[in-house]
Amino acid sequence: MSRMPLPYNPKVLELFRNPKNLGKMEDATVWAVAGNPMCGDMITFYLKINKEEIIEKASFESYGCAANIATSSILTEMIKNKKLELAWKITWKQVTDEIGGLPSIKFHCGILAVGALRRAIRKYFKEKGDKPSWLPQDLTFEEKQALEEEELAKRLAKRIGGQE
Ligand code: FES
Repeated sequence: MSRMPLPYNPKVLELFRNPKNLGKMEDATVWAVAGNPMCGDMITFYLKINKEEIIEKASFESYGCAANIATSSILTEMIKNKKLELAWKITWKQVTDEIGGLPSIKFHCGILAVGALRRAIRKYFKEKGDKPSWLPQDLTFEEKQALEEEELAKRLAKRIGGQE
């Protein structure tokens, strides 16, 4: 199969080369892993949340592609100093717009970034034993796209086994 270079815009390429907030956060309040059912890539999102439920800082680790690294990077910037409720409401379309657009076959990479963030926010409230009224009971589209960790681990083990 031939591999054509993807038409990424300059902002995506710049964020891919110099991502912001990349790396593990040792003092994170919460972190969550999400995997992409379409490509098997995975991402971890870390959040430092204060008592007022404001995100003081966010970082990520990604084993995904340029589009995933760029969307995750911009998302960590977009949610900084935001209340959890506002961060929750950011959609993958807004993130995609913020980086100046993505080739359509790469939309799922941005969906994964938002899925990881929402999973982290949900986990935060679950661990607190709290459920604010704005947090939907059912999983959102972005969360549904992010596979559960165990499922992902199985998929990765298969991949590492080299059988697929
Ligand atoms: Fe896997 Fe983009 S192709 S995250």
